Amino acid sequence: MTAGVSQPLPPVEVTPAGLDRRALIDGMMQFYIYDFSEFEPAGSDAFELNAEHRFDPYPLDDYWRDADRHPLIIEAGGRPAGFALINAVAHSGGICEHSMAEFFVMRKHRRGGVGARAVARILPMFPGRWEIAVARRNAPALGFWPRAVGALDCVRDLRTVEMDSELWRGPILQFEVIDPV
Ligand SMILES: CC(C)(COP(=O)(O)OP(=O)(O)OC[C@H]1O[C@@H](n2cnc3c(N)ncnc32)[C@H](O)[C@@H]1OP(=O)(O)O)[C@@H](O)C(=O)NCCC(=O)NCCS
Repeated sequence: MTAGVSQPLPPVEVTPAGLDRRALIDGMMQFYIYDFSEFEPAGSDAFELNAEHRFDPYPLDDYWRDADRHPLIIEAGGRPAGFALINAVAHSGGICEHSMAEFFVMRKHRRGGVGARAVARILPMFPGRWEIAVARRNAPALGFWPRAVGALDCVRDLRTVEMDSELWRGPILQFEVIDPV
């Protein structure tokens, strides 16, 4: 394998995923889970391959059934570069309209601004109260979210609460996204 030379930044698009693109999210999800397996202690039973030599499928059904869940595809230069899953689960135990359940940028596209530009497209699509919970061990995400969210004009009252409860251990970003119209 050879590494490519650097290219100009490709345009980043975010589109709602129809059911026809569920398999794409399912496929990328395997890489997402693999990335998360890095944060698991080696002795743990979690994040092991199943009898089909894959990680267990992520429960995606609700994302095409519930009105407050949104599956999104991130494309860079017209090619799949990641995904976002949005729901309304507040890990703080409070109330929010939107929560970033999962967010993923494929490794080839990282550190080129794809994630930040995707967030800049996603948040204005969903005005209201947001939460983004970040796992304490996930150093890239700890660096990414305050930067990506804090840069946006549509974000108000951004604060970070440190949680150490049964619901969540780690920082949760809480903010309001104002309606662009
Ligand atoms: C976290 C993630 C989404 C970042 O995506 P990305 O496209 O690489 O992010 P960007 O290039 O837009 O980065 C924007 C800024 O975030 C911060 N950042 C991004 N990756 C970082 C890292 N690995 N370490 C520290 N800061 C980081 C930097 O400030 C960066 O700006 P810079 O490159 O000018 O320094 C990506 O690494 C990923 O998909 N990781 C695996 C899944 C995951 O952890 N998702 C988050 C779940 S909460």
